[in-house]
Amino acid sequence: MKKIPVVVIDKDKKSVDRTLAMLELFPDVGSTKYSNEIYDFEVILMKRIPIIAIIGPTYNLKDLESLLKHYSNSLNYIKIILLTQDLSAEVLKAAIKLNIHDVLEYPVKEADLKESFKRAEYVFTDNNISEAQDAVRVCKKIMFFSTKGGSGNTFLSVNFAIALKALTKKEVVLYDLKYQFGDVALMLNIYPKNTIYDLLAINKFDEENLKILLTAHSSGIKIMPGPIDPSQGESIGVEASLKVFEGLKRMCDYLIIDAPFGFKDSVISIMEGIDYMFLMATKEVPSIKNLKICLQLLERLGYPKEKTFIILNRADSKVDFEIDEIEKTIQRTIDVKIPSDRIVPISVNKGIPVVMSAPKSSVGLSIFKMLDIIIPKKVKSKI
Ligand SMILES: Nc1ncnc2c1ncn2[C@@H]1O[C@H](COP(=O)(O)OP(=O)(O)O)[C@@H](O)[C@H]1O
Ligand SMILES: [Mg+2]
Repeated sequence: MKKIPVVVIDKDKKSVDRTLAMLELFPDVGSTKYSNEIYDFEVILMKRIPIIAIIGPTYNLKDLESLLKHYSNSLNYIKIILLTQDLSAEVLKAAIKLNIHDVLEYPVKEADLKESFKRAEYVFTDNNISEAQDAVRVCKKIMFFSTKGGSGNTFLSVNFAIALKALTKKEVVLYDLKYQFGDVALMLNIYPKNTIYDLLAINKFDEENLKILLTAHSSGIKIMPGPIDPSQGESIGVEASLKVFEGLKRMCDYLIIDAPFGFKDSVISIMEGIDYMFLMATKEVPSIKNLKICLQLLERLGYPKEKTFIILNRADSKVDFEIDEIEKTIQRTIDVKIPSDRIVPISVNKGIPVVMSAPKSSVGLSIFKMLDIIIPKKVKSKI
């Protein structure tokens, strides 16, 4: 029998770790993924990937009910083991109705879980598994955000996307959310025939139409370009941005967003669905002041702190602030420091990204290092 792919999903990180630790004792378990968000499970259901999904104990039947009703056909391939702290006849009955493979009491006993796996084994035939190998594609969404223009947002999002592509060989899409004077295409020396503005005219945001608009770059990444004429940018509303965001999510493994600076409506509407929010700043006083205000605002909005990362660009320039002063001011550690280098403006002017023309330069290396944030050096991969 082939090894069984497993995904562990729960809100509570500790429970997920506990289940993952137990799975290490199972020789039949193949690739293991995990997530703290139930919406990641929807993608698996949608794609009908043969997998054992261990869900709970914080998520419960109520969280699953509508999903399972909607994707009932997928349950021939996806075997759900629900963990619960409240194992009653009622829960069991409801679980059977929803075609849940098994319900186990949490904390779960190794023998029970093994037995449950055994009963699901028949799904994991050679054919089914090979289809499933790479199919667990859950897009990671990464936003580059700054509170001030000129922070290096576009330069870094472009180079980060290309470095990510070079390392992972996965599908990477770069979305220029700056609808007025967006310069992603310019920095990559590409001249798109169509831009996001053309989508509005046809008002269709499905995969087929989005695909037509995505412009390929020689590095292998694809670009969703911003409008060429700034006056066109004004007419692109929040709804269109959200539709494009939702559509692109389904088409790639990594969606990188070059956001306009400040809390524009388009940014706010997408922010919630972002997995990694890179907050860009430079060492100048206005930039640090704005970063502090931005962090306070995000906290007030209840935006999860663990999703935010502080990126200090031109971190070695001798101006205004020292690094430790900045960290004291914002009461956060700086996660990534990108040095200043004159090859940056040269590369921007030529339209050849630094990670391609000078990957071993200090800036190039620091951008590759930044990838550690989203690709942890763990065997287990978060979906
Ligand atoms: N690390 C760096 N070293 C030197 N110049 C930089 C660096 N980062 C950005 N720049 C320069 O700053 C300018 C503004 O960068 P850009 O990415 O367009 O900022 P933003 O998108 O935040 O407005 C670019 O033209 C680039 O040449
Ligand atoms: Mg920019």
